[in-house]
Amino acid sequence: MLTSVDVRQKFIDYFVDKGHSAQKSASLVPEDKTVLLTIAGMLPFKPYFLGKKVPPFNRATSVQKCIRTNDLENVGRTPRHQTFFEMLGNFSFGDYFKKDAIIYAWDLLTNHYKLPKDKLYVSVYKEDDEAIALWSEFTDVDKTQIVRLDKDNNFWESGPTGPCGPCSEIYYDYGVEYGCGNPDCAPGCDCNRFVEIWNLVFMEFNKNEKGELSPLPKKNIDTGMGLERICSVLQNVKSNFETDLFTPITKELLKLAKAESKVSLYVVADHARAVTFMIADGIYPSNEGRGYILKKIIRRAIRHGKILGINEAFLCKICLLVIDNYKIFYNELWENRALIEEIVNTEETNFSKTLDFGLSLLEEIITDKKQISGEDAFKLFDTFGFPLELTMEIAEEKKVSVDTQRFEGLMEEQRTRARGNAVFYKDGESKPKGGEAIVAKNEQERIEMARHHSVTHLLQAALRQVLGTHVTQAGSLVSTDRLRFDFTHPKALTTQQLQEVEHIVNEKIMANLEVAICEKTYDEAIQEGAMALFTEKYENLVRVVKMGSFSTELCGGTHVNRTGDIGLFKIVSEAAISNGIRRIEAVAGSYALALINHKLEIIDSITLDYQISSENVLDKFTQLRKENSDLKKEKTSLLSSILLVQLKTDFDAHKIMINNIPIIIKSMENVIFPDNPKDVLDKLPESTVEFVALIINNTTENKISIIIKASNKLITHYKISAGELLKETAKILEGNGGGRPDYAQGGGKNASQIPQALDFLKKTLEERLK
Ligand code: ALA
Repeated sequence: MLTSVDVRQKFIDYFVDKGHSAQKSASLVPEDKTVLLTIAGMLPFKPYFLGKKVPPFNRATSVQKCIRTNDLENVGRTPRHQTFFEMLGNFSFGDYFKKDAIIYAWDLLTNHYKLPKDKLYVSVYKEDDEAIALWSEFTDVDKTQIVRLDKDNNFWESGPTGPCGPCSEIYYDYGVEYGCGNPDCAPGCDCNRFVEIWNLVFMEFNKNEKGELSPLPKKNIDTGMGLERICSVLQNVKSNFETDLFTPITKELLKLAKAESKVSLYVVADHARAVTFMIADGIYPSNEGRGYILKKIIRRAIRHGKILGINEAFLCKICLLVIDNYKIFYNELWENRALIEEIVNTEETNFSKTLDFGLSLLEEIITDKKQISGEDAFKLFDTFGFPLELTMEIAEEKKVSVDTQRFEGLMEEQRTRARGNAVFYKDGESKPKGGEAIVAKNEQERIEMARHHSVTHLLQAALRQVLGTHVTQAGSLVSTDRLRFDFTHPKALTTQQLQEVEHIVNEKIMANLEVAICEKTYDEAIQEGAMALFTEKYENLVRVVKMGSFSTELCGGTHVNRTGDIGLFKIVSEAAISNGIRRIEAVAGSYALALINHKLEIIDSITLDYQISSENVLDKFTQLRKENSDLKKEKTSLLSSILLVQLKTDFDAHKIMINNIPIIIKSMENVIFPDNPKDVLDKLPESTVEFVALIINNTTENKISIIIKASNKLITHYKISAGELLKETAKILEGNGGGRPDYAQGGGKNASQIPQALDFLKKTLEERLK
């Protein structure tokens, strides 16, 4: 039996042997901006198909990491749906076309993978007579097993626009017993009998925004075979989840699971792979774009883990297993294992906490309703982090619908509010309404605004340089006196990183780079590497702001002419605002100068007060801190001694004997309490006293402290418990506290009750020690 490792290798070897250049899988984050994630093997080669770039080779082959989430709710429910999968592909860039693509595919499947020919069916686009003729003439496929299908089945497009073409698909027949029983059941039917294993796309057209097709400069081939599917055929199992690509994962999950659910088992196995690969490619959980897809997948996995009865944190463990299983092919998993672990752990901890609350709220909502309102779905999203899809999935299980339209409406309102915040500087551009004097001022503000705005671009580029290209803008606010920049990054920046970022920005300010603004088509700008916001809808013609070669961004705001005009940049703070999103607050221009001057003034006044030079400030404070801590220690030990002496001298006078047992029940006033009253009581030998209850009333601080200690004899012979007595005493004094049978500590508020408390203790002791 071929293992998945053999299947990958045979594929690549076969096409390399046929003159193809073996290409490493591209990232799941595509360079192509028309899709959020890499959905097919052809995506990295799109510029070659479109004739926009000259390919360094005419033939290529790859095993490409892919993610498709359009059928998320079907994952685990069918034998074939997954989010993450690997696509085996061979590509021709204006080199061979239909005939060779067909010959290669048939040869590999039948002669190398040795699939029985009678099990293979072929579909072709209904108008593609040429393909039918080629299949008949150059392969020995059974002619009765060739079917013509319509555009929905046999015309492939990577998105609403771009390269596309008719295709021919190869199906494997699992047998009538897997079929729907319909006499018309044939390739293209939705049941589980005919499984599409390989898609050969004859890519010869480009589709524009109006949906019109025009011929591409050259005719190309793009093929895709799902590794999981071909493995399930070659390993003779019924589902992708039973192949060796999944069994190590499901086995581990079954060890942890306490409840049975095939669907949940497969969902978690699938999602763990997707999560691991996505994070390794620099995607972090967030509320937008692919970050949101990741978050959704993680949260869905955690919920399905719960259905499996797994109550401890588990997802991270499974992701680490995925890393182990795949690291030989995908080194990036190994390189990013610490990051993967950290992100999954954080998400799991955070979401597990709210999942139970959210689920119980959802239960309540569902019991008395037929439909979950948009408001409720939004609340679940906003407060508990329930992605809409998760709410919908649970609703479906309970046969209740969700008002998704209202939900979307509320989401849009929130987005508009956020956008309002993000771009409010645009208001600053509008002409001031006041007279001349105000104009001169409201002008100063325009300059400050432009400084803060321009420096935000430098900040983003510097962050990407220091932290990596996973950093993307998650929100921003620019005002005349400060800026706020939110960005994706999984953990706090170190002081060193912050200093480096600040240093780079100031360096770029001093380099006095030209700020060039021009208009370009969106595609052109993106191709030149401009940073854009995924959530923003751009017109075709966009405004590009370029600062030297350091930063290029699409932006409509007001900017300085040269970076030198910014003057100065200073970071004020850095913090997390949500999981995976950090916020930097900073100031530029005169505000940066004012901030620095203010800090220097503080140092100046310290040096003056302490009569030290600024270079010695740090040493002086270290020395003072040490002195302070030594003094504190001395004070504690001194207080303990005083209390002990006081207790010892007073003791004989206050000691009472109950049933011949020495007891102290006593209130004291204004004794300064040491940090460690237990140590003090421990220094009193048990022979002198077997029970001590002290109520110390600190009248200056309006605070009553209670401590009770009982000897082992009292605990074992007379069932006395210091903890229990303390609770009662504290109650009388309107406070609280507790502890162990031998020692307990607490506090009270009502000093007028002290006699009652003492009385209670005395009476209880008299009662118990009889
Ligand atoms: N690009 C084609 C597909 O994804 C091969 O099916």
